[in-house]
Amino acid sequence: MNIVLGISGGIAAYKTPELVRRLRERGADVQIVMTASAEEFVTPTSLQAVSGRPIRSNLWDKEAEASMSHIELARWADLVLIAPATAELMARLAGGGAPDLLTTLCLATEAPIAIAPAMNRVMWANPAVQANRETLEERGIQILGPDVGSQACGETGAGRMLEPDVIADAVCSPEFAGAVADGILAGRTVLVTAGPTREPIDPVRYITNRSSGKMGYAIASAAHALGARVILISGPVSLPEPRGTDVVYVETAEEMQAATQDRVADADIFIAAAAVSDYRPAETSAQKIKKTRDTITLELVRSPDILASVAALQNAPFTVGFAAETENVRKYALGKLENKNLDMIVANRVGSDCGFDYDDNAAEVLWKGGEKVFDKMPKSELAAGIVDVIAVRFFETRGDEMQPTLSIVSIKE
Ligand code: C5P
Repeated sequence: MNIVLGISGGIAAYKTPELVRRLRERGADVQIVMTASAEEFVTPTSLQAVSGRPIRSNLWDKEAEASMSHIELARWADLVLIAPATAELMARLAGGGAPDLLTTLCLATEAPIAIAPAMNRVMWANPAVQANRETLEERGIQILGPDVGSQACGETGAGRMLEPDVIADAVCSPEFAGAVADGILAGRTVLVTAGPTREPIDPVRYITNRSSGKMGYAIASAAHALGARVILISGPVSLPEPRGTDVVYVETAEEMQAATQDRVADADIFIAAAAVSDYRPAETSAQKIKKTRDTITLELVRSPDILASVAALQNAPFTVGFAAETENVRKYALGKLENKNLDMIVANRVGSDCGFDYDDNAAEVLWKGGEKVFDKMPKSELAAGIVDVIAVRFFETRGDEMQPTLSIVSIKE
């Protein structure tokens, strides 16, 4: 689990290095985001040492933003945990303000948010704080504690931050892990391939293509948002891991096929969004090829067709292919639907003005007896629409399976 641990400026912040250790012991990756006042109570140096990641605190830190922007960080998180959460931080969250990195992240994330309040008992009992607590609870923010007992200010009452062990146990529990598992694909496994493949010529050169992986990654996120367990088999891309998915990184088409074969038995739905290299060098030179001749000939052999081999399985999952074409898009896509024996194909045009590496795309989703056309829109929205159609057709074609109770999309047949 990827946890963004937000630390605000209360005395209980001195317990956060221990909290980080308890979370990491339970297998979590922890990225710390501190408010300016938190740094009065605990040093970024200690927190960096225990978390193993550079601390984030400033929304305007150009270098940090360039390596992982606050939006990427918001997507990376499976959970945003704020401990300690001060009265001031709770007020900012309740009011929807975003004056700093932590509160901006809270507005930008789709991950569950949990807070562990910590403050003096009179402050905690204050009606303004209690009203904010209620607002946050109504919005689905999990409130952990506070504990009752002796306080740093010398008083005794409700307001102590829960102990690090208790917080770590709570957020690493199955209830938190399954926080999103209530969509129509809950209990289903979706296997997605994404990105390009790289076929080595020699140790320094390879054959690849222009795929950025953006569409496949957006498809994986959309399936996760519908509650599916998502396994993403990814070629080399420069994208952050989509939240809540198991990512398996591969390079070549053969590695992608092996990774798919290993996991396909678990899959209810297989979506092949990868731009797999159709050919690979017949031989890979062990040493760098030197430029001793004016021309050289590279012999290429066909790579395995991963999608067709999955569709041909006896117990094939619901199988969806992509057809990225520069011309005759619909005709070629329908040919692939037929020849590869697919349940569905997503056809889209690629060229110098659309497709690979663009953030927007249009697509036609085609199956035997129906279609759904999506006009140009951001890839994340397009992916959500495509996965909705896939989910509906998945339930329709597997008649003996439980039907979804939600009407999620109307399909134009
Ligand atoms: O045959 P073509 O490459 O045009 O088909 C595209 C579809 O097939 C995509 O879904 C792609 O992911 C998949 N594919 C595959 N393995 C290959 C080639 C394509 O899975 N070797």
